Amino acid sequence: MKILITGGAGFIGSNFIYYQLQNHPENQFICLDALTYAGNLETLQSAMQHDNFSFVKGNIADRVFVYELFETEKPDIVVNFAAESHVDRSILEPELFLKTNIIGTGVLMDACREYGIKRYHQVSTDEVYGDLPLDRLDLFFTEETPLHTSSPYSASKASADLLVLAYYRTYGLPVTISRCSNNYGPYHFPEKLIPLMIINALHDKKLPVYGTGENVRDWLYVEDHCSAIDLIIRKGRVGQVYNIGGHNEKTNLEVVRTIIKELGKDEELITFVQDRPGHDRRYAIDPAKIHRELGWLPQTNFADGIKKTIKWYLNNESWWQRIISGEYQDYYVKMYGNR
Ligand code: NAD
Ligand code: DAU
Repeated sequence: MKILITGGAGFIGSNFIYYQLQNHPENQFICLDALTYAGNLETLQSAMQHDNFSFVKGNIADRVFVYELFETEKPDIVVNFAAESHVDRSILEPELFLKTNIIGTGVLMDACREYGIKRYHQVSTDEVYGDLPLDRLDLFFTEETPLHTSSPYSASKASADLLVLAYYRTYGLPVTISRCSNNYGPYHFPEKLIPLMIINALHDKKLPVYGTGENVRDWLYVEDHCSAIDLIIRKGRVGQVYNIGGHNEKTNLEVVRTIIKELGKDEELITFVQDRPGHDRRYAIDPAKIHRELGWLPQTNFADGIKKTIKWYLNNESWWQRIISGEYQDYYVKMYGNR
């Protein structure tokens, strides 16, 4: 089987590639990634050593390029991680989110229709459901919760989900969608809450908490997300949506305080800053369907996962230092400049 993984030079996509190389070495893997600011080829250095892995630089919204790739490679399965993924950036500049997250998804699915596919999997997010109130801890997002988005990012992801379901109904494209809660773990880009706070705390820099810090996120260790997607593409029912989450709800302040404690730093570093416009209050996933149908359960709770994550950032300082300095963007030119 040949699996095309888009956005594989980013956080979750790269973790998924390593999960696949370890658990399904019999398959061929192609990573397609545009290497935007969030894509880092250094992350895939070890994957490059495997004969059954190859990397292609390109944009999922570039129809000519994508069709040529499908013509040459004829993948059996496509897993689409490629996206603009940061809510704050979407508030500053929404247009790129529409192009990559919506048009890009459409182009990939058109290529699947043209060249044939066993499965197209769309990696979506719990943000498509909007948010839940802070004082109703009995409420959770199920697959039936209506789409009700808050940011340009979440609206673009919800639009893509609707397009995927439309391609299933209209063209019979064999699709699945997963909607996951907040991930954390190795290779998380340091603009996101957890890596940002770890790196700032290590430098004794201020820890900018939006608003009051009472917003709640439902944290899932990235490897658990990878195992869930792996099950869905192999055993999930075509045309279905699966929520993925592990009941690890924490307020942002709880997360930041845990990081401070683990690193032996001072809570004085916490600085409350202006809130994110339209800031979602609480996300909480009900993962009963994927558990019932596919037997999936997360393996890592937050207390262990955050320790593992902090340890990874302490042991991989050169990875994030090169991101902070911008040097990681030279890597592609070094690797492929003369090829
Ligand atoms: P990320 O920003 O770390 O990585 C995105 C990757 O996509 C990067 O490598 C980037 O270069 C690539 N990319 C961007 N635009 C592209 C384009 N036009 N063509 C080809 N490649 C392009 O994102 P992530 O956190 O790894 O998220 C991956 C997916 O999972 C996204 O679809 C996101 O919506 C979804 N998701 C993320 C989370 C989370 O907590 N991070 C949770 C649920 C769902
Ligand atoms: O729920 C899944 C989503 O999780 C994914 O779809 C997104 O791609 C991913 O980026 C993430 O979105 P969030 O907006 O929840 O993640 P972020 O790390 O940006 O913020 C987490 C929470 O922390 C949120 O309530 C905002 C807050 N925050 C964030 C930053 C960067 C702060 O208080 N301070 C910060 O500096």
